[in-house]
Amino acid sequence: MLKKFQRWKKEEQIGERPLSDRKKELLNYEIPNHIAIIMDGNGRWAQKRSLPRIMGHHEGMKVVRRITKVANELGVKALTLYAFSTENWKRPKMEVDFLMKLPEEFLGTFLPELIEENVQVRIMGNKDELPSHTLRAVEKAMNETKNNTGLILNFALNYGSRYEMVEGIKKIIADYEQNNLKLDDINEDCFSSYLMSKELPDPDLLIRTSGELRLSNFMLWQLAYTEFWFTDTLWPDFGEEDFVEAIEDFQNRGRRFGGI
Ligand code: FPP
Repeated sequence: MLKKFQRWKKEEQIGERPLSDRKKELLNYEIPNHIAIIMDGNGRWAQKRSLPRIMGHHEGMKVVRRITKVANELGVKALTLYAFSTENWKRPKMEVDFLMKLPEEFLGTFLPELIEENVQVRIMGNKDELPSHTLRAVEKAMNETKNNTGLILNFALNYGSRYEMVEGIKKIIADYEQNNLKLDDINEDCFSSYLMSKELPDPDLLIRTSGELRLSNFMLWQLAYTEFWFTDTLWPDFGEEDFVEAIEDFQNRGRRFGGI
């Protein structure tokens, strides 16, 4: 039987049509509620142009703005972007410092537009280790957008899935020891509620750019039934067309969640 979100269109039929028509047509089918993106390939984008790697991150920041706008237009409820992993501290200090300044630059430039577009800014990650200037910028944006009701723009910043799960387990044990939680209360929903993504549904669609085919410690629990979409395009080159293509592809898939 046809599921509501299946399009049953051939790739070539989809690809030939103007982008504006394709965007409109997307709305006839299920739009993923939550899209998660591993924004990869900034360094290679810069290296290909003989530029310093940080220029790739800077260009990548502009793509964040464009994709946020189109996701919001399409009615996506949440967009989680892997901006900095718990492993990224291993990079040269100069690159880490630059990456930690990007949220300030991004929000300093685009926060008024995000507010106007009803976007809610959130952060998911270990805040304790973030430089105070980074945290201040993000918390200001979270505060100023907390009553907005549109797209949730969730930055995974100093985020690592294994860290998140270990921290969740520690909190579960603490609640158990203080008699706030019984052994029988612990189930999958309960565990999810101890994770940093607790207020969001699991992602429906995961996008990773730059041709790498791995999860890199990103939302390992939450991606259990997520549809994956990979592209060779480097993140700074990722455009509206690629985003639309990913959603078209999602709409062509039959999700069974283990059923038949
Ligand atoms: C991975 O590419 C990318 C990152 C570690 C950083 C991603 C950050 C952005 C796209 C900007 C975020 C913007 C805001 C507003 C926070 P890579 O450097 O590993 O690329 P490579 O694999 O080609 O070296």
